[in-house]
Amino acid sequence: MKFSLIPLLGLTFLSLTNALPKITRTGKYLYDESGSRFYIKGVAYQPQGEAAASSEANTANGGFPEPSSFHDPLSSSTNCTRDLPYLKQLGVNSVRVYSVNSSLNHDECMKTFSDNGIYVLLDVSLPLNGSIDRSSPSWSTNLLNEYISTIDAFRNYDNILGFNIGNEVITQVSNTNAGPYVKAAARDIKAYLKSVGSSSLVGYSATDGDADFRNSLAEYLTCGSEDITVDLYGLNNYEWCGNASYNNSGWNTIVQGFQNIPVATYMSEYGCIFQPPRLWTEVAALFSTPVSDVFSGGVAFSYFPTSDGYGMVTISSDGNAVTTSDDFTRLATQYNATAPPNSPAKSSVTAGQTTCPNESASLVASNNLPPTPNEEVCNCINQKALSCLVRSSTANSPTIVGDLLNYACQLLGTSTNGTASCDPIGGNGTAGTYGELSYCSPAIKLSYAMSAYYEFNPIDSSCDFAGNATLSPTRPNTAQDASSAASQCLSSEPSGGVFTPSAVAGGSSSSKTSASPSGSKTSGSSASGSSNSSSASSGEPRTISSAAWFGVIGLVGAIVGGGLAVL
Ligand SMILES: *[C@@H]1O[C@H](CO)[C@@H](O)[C@H](O)[C@H]1NC(C)=O
Ligand SMILES: *[C@@H]1O[C@H](CO)[C@@H](O)[C@H](O)[C@H]1NC(C)=O
Ligand SMILES: *[C@@H]1O[C@H](CO)[C@@H](O)[C@H](O)[C@H]1NC(C)=O
Ligand SMILES: *[C@@H]1O[C@H](CO)[C@@H](O)[C@H](O)[C@H]1NC(C)=O
Ligand SMILES: *[C@@H]1O[C@H](CO)[C@@H](O)[C@H](O)[C@H]1NC(C)=O
Ligand SMILES: *[C@@H]1O[C@H](CO)[C@@H](O)[C@H](O)[C@H]1NC(C)=O
Ligand SMILES: *[C@@H]1O[C@H](CO)[C@@H](O)[C@H](O)[C@H]1NC(C)=O
Ligand SMILES: *[C@@H]1O[C@H](CO)[C@@H](O)[C@H](O)[C@H]1NC(C)=O
Ligand SMILES: *[C@@H]1O[C@H](CO)[C@@H](O)[C@H](O)[C@H]1NC(C)=O
Ligand SMILES: *[C@@H]1O[C@H](CO)[C@@H](O)[C@H](O)[C@H]1NC(C)=O
Ligand SMILES: *[C@@H]1O[C@H](CO)[C@@H](O)[C@H](O)[C@H]1NC(C)=O
Repeated sequence: MKFSLIPLLGLTFLSLTNALPKITRTGKYLYDESGSRFYIKGVAYQPQGEAAASSEANTANGGFPEPSSFHDPLSSSTNCTRDLPYLKQLGVNSVRVYSVNSSLNHDECMKTFSDNGIYVLLDVSLPLNGSIDRSSPSWSTNLLNEYISTIDAFRNYDNILGFNIGNEVITQVSNTNAGPYVKAAARDIKAYLKSVGSSSLVGYSATDGDADFRNSLAEYLTCGSEDITVDLYGLNNYEWCGNASYNNSGWNTIVQGFQNIPVATYMSEYGCIFQPPRLWTEVAALFSTPVSDVFSGGVAFSYFPTSDGYGMVTISSDGNAVTTSDDFTRLATQYNATAPPNSPAKSSVTAGQTTCPNESASLVASNNLPPTPNEEVCNCINQKALSCLVRSSTANSPTIVGDLLNYACQLLGTSTNGTASCDPIGGNGTAGTYGELSYCSPAIKLSYAMSAYYEFNPIDSSCDFAGNATLSPTRPNTAQDASSAASQCLSSEPSGGVFTPSAVAGGSSSSKTSASPSGSKTSGSSASGSSNSSSASSGEPRTISSAAWFGVIGLVGAIVGGGLAVL
């Protein structure tokens, strides 16, 4: 016994000395293991991806063109090693990374950064369908699985500072109805991290806007119990331009507005380019009072070049050499000169909870959050209660799924054969009502809508949708069978609908997109730009009981004359 203990202790000691200190949050502040305040002195570290064609729905919601692809910056040890000396020269202790591919290996980059005192703040969403879609928001099984896969690929690295569950999902008052879905994502990811013993922080990065919008959203996402609030609230802020000052940049107003936010806040992007040169005088302000009383540092945008001029280095065409700009040198000087106050002391901080804001002219987000995505229920419904299933080739095309969902829901809505609607797969974040299948994947939602249509018009050609659908080999024989199967599937739902999700069966690659590069100014990518499933906005969504649900699907319609050439 004694002999075997010695090497074990030795190993433990070694790994302790090598690990970067854990950063935790107490109330509004971050602390390291010694109890010193931790400030994020960061730089965005994500090569720019290609911009996606902006969808109508996205534009209508004030969205920026979103990236359609990404390059994982933590998957190439050569590149991380190439960049390390420059990150050190900048004096950063953190990099913010917007999109990674969870099936690649990140060991070497993470170790290179860890060995040099650099934490990683990682966004877990991906471009396009890998993020909550602000124009048709939903917190669904496919996103939960994708987030968990990425978290599982990273949570054991000692230098993971936190996981961001969204970047600029909400861009203006009219899409604050996506708020409950973002908050549900924070809730479920926090529960997951806790269940696997991880103390990583959970964050969200917000778009800037006028004070009412900015403050209401920050209050909303940080209010209520610890179980549902984000730990790290980031503001992407570009208001300090040229040789501005605390007072004339508007930072004074921001600091005042975030004073009572009960969690750690930081500038998750900063560095205005509109009054060049960038002097980075905001760095001195960020790391001293009064800003440091409220904010815990920030992430300068951006290390890598961007098409609109935010980059601070260029990389030679062979990918081997890095050239820095004057912006880079000025930022390095500013970062190196910071000496932020080590106060308040951790022991003096009391964690406070805030009351959630009511809906108002600047916030149309309900405090009633959607349930935890329940894959078991969705799969059960798909297998046992649906008659018409989307083909897997179509399921892999988010754009077609989005179009067909609109089409099928519209067919149902205009049906003369009853009151069928897509309510069970929709939701309303303003009303705080969520259909029972609102958390299922887009493909299962589509199969639901197609099956409901088929039930009204039960001839084979009703389940064709121009070759995109096929009759289920395990379809229920009668509407009554469908009803009881649905009811049975739904009965496994835990009371209240909220539970701790678990890792995806079958490993971490089950929910990847085929997309690749990111990194415009808003490179985190939040909207889909692909599927504009308007199911949530047609009709009057409400929570559907299992009775109402199978009421819809159980209505056997007569065959509509004319054979219905669908699409
Ligand atoms: C949604 O998609 C449908 C079908 O492609 C299209 O006709 C409609 O204009 C789109 N709506 C928005 C708001 O983009
Ligand atoms: C910043 O500090 C680091 C060491 O902490 C140093 O390597 C680097 O050269 C400094 N950069 C500047 C611009 O002073
Ligand atoms: C910036 O403004 C301050 C005073 O507001 C002034 O002292 C300083 O010289 C200015 N710096 C530049 C580079 O313009
Ligand atoms: C900003 O303005 C206020 C009120 O005019 C003043 O008290 C304060 O000293 C100024 N702050 C800075 C950092 O200049
Ligand atoms: C390494 O960086 C170069 C230049 O930025 C880039 O072209 C290349 O794709 C990167 N390699 C990997 C594996 O990401
Ligand atoms: C929200 O509205 C209710 C009812 O009008 C009121 O009692 C409560 O104080 C309000 N809450 C906040 C945070 O303003
Ligand atoms: C599926 O639907 C899309 C339109 O929404 C159509 O373009 C396509 O031809 C259909 N069939 C197949 C097999 O993809
Ligand atoms: C997004 O779509 C791709 C197919 O284009 C799919 O492989 C991937 O699983 C989807 N991601 C999510 C989160 O649904
Ligand atoms: C992740 O990398 C694998 C292996 O290179 C690739 O097949 C897959 O398409 C990538 N996924 C994404 C989302 O880029
Ligand atoms: C969602 O609910 C709100 C308030 O409860 C309502 O005003 C709004 O019209 C609903 N949205 C849709 C798309 O039905
Ligand atoms: C469904 O609608 C068609 C066409 O309007 C009608 O002929 C048929 O009787 C309806 N079936 C039912 C069950 O109401």
